[in-house]
Formats: sequence, C-alpha cells, structure tokens
Amino acid sequence: MIIGIPTEVKVAEKRVAVTPSGVRTLVQGGHKVLIQSGAGLGSGFSDESYIRAGAGMKPDPATVWADSDMILKVKEPLPQEYNLMRPDQIIFTYLHLAADRKLAETLVKKKVVGIAYETIQTDKGSLPLLAPMSAVAGRLSVQAGAYCLEAKTGGMGVLLSGVPGVRPAYVVIIGAGVAGLHACFGAAGNDARVTILDINQERLDHIHDVMRGSVTTLMSNEGTLEEEIMKADLVISSVLIPGATAPKLISRKLLKKMKPGAVIVDIAIDQGGSCETSRPTTHENPTYVEEGIVHYCVNNMPGAVPRTSTMALTNATLPYALEIANLGYQKAMKGNPAIARGMNLIKGDVVHKVVAESVGLPYVPLK
Ligand SMILES: NC(=O)c1ccc[n+]([C@@H]2O[C@H](COP(=O)([O-])OP(=O)(O)OC[C@H]3O[C@@H](n4cnc5c(N)ncnc54)[C@H](O)[C@@H]3O)[C@@H](O)[C@H]2O)c1
Repeated sequence: MIIGIPTEVKVAEKRVAVTPSGVRTLVQGGHKVLIQSGAGLGSGFSDESYIRAGAGMKPDPATVWADSDMILKVKEPLPQEYNLMRPDQIIFTYLHLAADRKLAETLVKKKVVGIAYETIQTDKGSLPLLAPMSAVAGRLSVQAGAYCLEAKTGGMGVLLSGVPGVRPAYVVIIGAGVAGLHACFGAAGNDARVTILDINQERLDHIHDVMRGSVTTLMSNEGTLEEEIMKADLVISSVLIPGATAPKLISRKLLKKMKPGAVIVDIAIDQGGSCETSRPTTHENPTYVEEGIVHYCVNNMPGAVPRTSTMALTNATLPYALEIANLGYQKAMKGNPAIARGMNLIKGDVVHKVVAESVGLPYVPLK
C-alpha cells in the first residue's frame, strides 16, 4: 500500500503522524511511504532521517494526498485539505466527528474511508489510540491549570502547592479515565488537594488503589458535582462517552456559583466540551474569561509537546496502521473487532452508531 504522511495544518500543531523508526517498520513491511518535506521538523525529525528510514519525500501536501492509498495524520482534516482527498482513500487519524457535523458531512460527500483513532476500542473497552494522548493531555492539564491560576491570566492568584502556612489549591477532576488518572498524578505530585469524580465505581477503585489514598474519590452525580465545583480553585474535565459529544456537566448557572478567578481546563473540548461556556481555543490564544472563570479549551493539547507526543502516538498507532496496510481495511476490520469499532465512515456511509447519532446523520451498520 502507498501510505502518505502530510504536514499537520492545524494552528501550532507540530506533531507528525509517524516517527522515522515507524516509517522504517512500514517500509520493511513492504509498503511505500511518502512524506511531505518538513513534516517531522516540529517534532525534531529531519527530512534526512525519514529518507534514511526509506520514505519518499514530496514537496507539498497535494502530491502526498494525490499519490497515497492511506493518509496517516494526527488531527482531523481541515478545510484546506478537503479538496485534496479522493473517494475510497483511507484517512486514519483523530476525527472527533461528534464535535464537528460539518466535517462529518464533508467526509461523507467525499466518500472517503474514515477510521478514527479515538474510536478504536478493544473488547475490554479501552481506547488504545486515544490513551497515549490522553495521558499527555492529563499531565499538561495541571501545568496549564497552574498557569491559568496566576493573576496575569485572570486567575485568582493561587499557587497550586501553597506554601508552609498557606493552604494548597483545591483541584477537582471530573472523569477518572486515562486523562483523569494522569491529571491526578500531576496535581497530587504538585502537592495540591485533589478530588476526582466519576460515574464508574471501577474507575474510582482503580484511582484509589493507584494513588494510595492521596486523592479523594467521589461517585459523580448532580449533587456531588455541584458541591465540589463550587469549592474548586481548578476544575479539570476529562469525561468521555466514546464517539459521542461530551456530556455538558457545568452549566452557566453552575459556573456563576464558582469562586471568582477559578479555572476550568476542559480537556474534553475535542468532543465538544463539558461546560456550557466552553469553546475551542488554540495554543496561541489558549484562554478566555467568562463569568469571572478562566477557561482553557485547547483541543490539541499534546501538540504543545510534539516530540513526546509523536513518539507516544506512533507507539500506539503503528501496529494498527500496519495491519490495515497489510490486509486492506475490509479484511482488517473483519479480523480485528477493535479496528471495526474504529470505522466511522465508509464511502459515504456513517458506520459508527454513536457518531451517527451525535451528528444527526443516518447510521448504516457495518456488513
Ligand atoms: N484536548 C485535548 O487535546 C485532548 C487530548 C487527548 C484526549 N482528550 C479528551 O480527553 C477526554 C478523556 O479521554 P480519556 O482517554 O481519559 O477517556 P476515558 O474513557 O479513559 O475516561 C473517561 C472517563 O469519563 C467518565 N465519565 C463519562 N461520563 C461521565 C460523567 N457524566 N461524569 C463523570 N465521569 C464521566 C467515564 O466513566 C470514564 O472513566 C476525551 O474527551 C478525549 O477525547 C482531549
């Protein structure tokens, strides 16, 4: 198969879909890899390192897209890429269609095969291609939150750890999955006082075991959530219902009850965000203040640390990319239910039920 890797076009996105050593593995598997010149530079990988790994270099995105059977990307296609794709082409990337009906409609019209990293799901329910970026985002959420708590960004001017004689910040994390766990490591490691909520008892059990009682775990419901959010200095939301729009857990009414200068880091913004007042921001302009609360809603947080993120992403995606390239997507999805769950679009049909429901397009079950 011919596999194309274009440069990411999202603002301040410096990740690339595959490292040079990942390219080597694809080439050794008998595939041809075409990469856009300069695609790896933001992650510290030179064109020469890709050429040494066996890739062919292309000068622009148009030639990468035109000559490839499968495109490997990091972020969802953006408008400047819409006219580069062609029917039947496989696009294997984060799609996050639930948050973007227009993108879903465009990809349906283009009749591409859209396989979403974030809905590849094992039989046990884990999301192996979302997990590494959620781990990065979880860790970064604490750094971002600490920065937003500073007075210059509109925050209440509180140091996460406190100092001897002054209490630490109170951090409330909603969603005890991968991002939530890593946010716990970051916040507790910075000596903040931490409470984490989830609707899933097993997730809370896991956090309790791993954190050895250093954070408080709480079953999430309207009552506990409201009570904790009103007390919080920093709220980190890392909730997810796979494939669906994020549940709106913090209404404007609840926001108004929060402490002035408190901060919300809405990691779930890539699935539409979990606050009524959340809207996507960029690394260049990451925050805004509404109702006196600082919002940080960057939907490509791992792009801030592209070298770590590119390596972690390749570790996770490469075995699946290789399987799809070796077998073709039809055989790959028949043989591997995790890949079948990753199928979002096939040549004009939305084949993922939750995605179809979220964007209000007809659902066509996989044959
Ligand atoms: N902004 C970014 O750059 C970025 C990067 C990576 C991941 N993400 C997003 O982070 C989110 C979390 O990802 P993850 O891999 O940790 O998911 P996960 O599936 O591991 O964890 C999600 C958790 O949310 C819980 N949950 C669902 N509904 C809830 C509710 N109403 N109240 C409380 N908890 C609830 C689930 O039980 C689960 O434990 C996703 O939306 C993902 O897309 C964003």
